[in-house]
Amino acid sequence: MITFAQSATIPQVEGDELAQMEAIRDTLNTLVTESNVRKKKVVIAVPAALEEEVTMKSIFIPDLPIDVPKEVMKMNVRAEFEAQDFISYLDDAEIDCHVEGETTFDGNHGLDVFAVAVHRDLIERRVQLLRDCGMFPIAIDVDFLALARLVVTTTQLSDEEDIAILDIGATTTDVGFYQHGKLYPYPPILFAGMDLTSHVAQTLNVNEDEAEAYKHGKEAMVDGSPEEADVWGVLEDKLNQELCLELYGHFDAYTREFPEFKPSKVIISGGTAQLPQLDEFFTSQLAIPVDVLHYVDRIAVDANGEVAALKDNEPLFSTAVGLALKGGL
Ligand SMILES: Nc1ncnc2c1ncn2[C@@H]1O[C@H](COP(=O)(O)OP(=O)(O)OP(=O)(O)O)[C@@H](O)[C@H]1O
Ligand SMILES: [Mg+2]
Repeated sequence: MITFAQSATIPQVEGDELAQMEAIRDTLNTLVTESNVRKKKVVIAVPAALEEEVTMKSIFIPDLPIDVPKEVMKMNVRAEFEAQDFISYLDDAEIDCHVEGETTFDGNHGLDVFAVAVHRDLIERRVQLLRDCGMFPIAIDVDFLALARLVVTTTQLSDEEDIAILDIGATTTDVGFYQHGKLYPYPPILFAGMDLTSHVAQTLNVNEDEAEAYKHGKEAMVDGSPEEADVWGVLEDKLNQELCLELYGHFDAYTREFPEFKPSKVIISGGTAQLPQLDEFFTSQLAIPVDVLHYVDRIAVDANGEVAALKDNEPLFSTAVGLALKGGL
């Protein structure tokens, strides 16, 4: 059950990686102290967008029975990654996998396996960060997989239906398609909310804080703010030039890979999905119905808890809630 939800923005700091880690640690410590959350077990995400340290791939493993022990399966996944020369950091990779089912490929019988590899250094950095804040991880997940888990758990989908899922965050837009119980992640797009904030700041000649507030729409507007429609005009141009072009490419690639499928809808989440009008904008640009992810009425939320932030910002919290589901929410 969700009893508390709060988000905090990590300040941008000058300096090296150490200074940035310090800022993350301070922000996390303050958040945890203010929360009164006593449990220190954490499920944490690594970003799918860190492609040099995080890899997700569906692979075919021939001649293995479906009930093979997990460790044997992982060894086979590692061998397959090696044979395909797929990961530059294989010697330093932690591997996990999930058997999707039995299948036949090129006349061979085998298993369809969804595999994830994460660089050990990245895991160690995350674990250390949590320890420094007095917490310890019980599981590590990929952010996009956490979101997909939440979408699939809380959205009614028929067996025949396939959907696209977008996680539009601060720096990255993750894209994937879900069909017949399987997730197909596509390459992340390196464009998201921070690019929009900078663009608004530059175009309207305001500072980043003001630009951030303008993005949030009507409620953040004060006397002297530009009209909401003018801010949207600025955002729309940039979305068209940057994000839409990349998205068309991904949808085309999906159609080429699966000519017999067409997503019936797109579900958008991540903080930037809270941009007023974004769903309508994408619906017209992508020519598919686009919905912002809503889930609070489908999961256990403590009515007496401090959960107002979650209820008001469902897309912003979706990765965290997907991680909580993994931890047994
Ligand atoms: N109400 C809102 N309207 C518009 N944008 C918003 C709103 N709330 C948050 N955002 C934007 O959401 C972004 C943060 O979203 P999120 O927390 O999903 O990103 P992240 O997971 O930290 O980043 P990434 O997934 O790119 O690594 C910020 O760029 C912020 O400007
Ligand atoms: Mg994110």
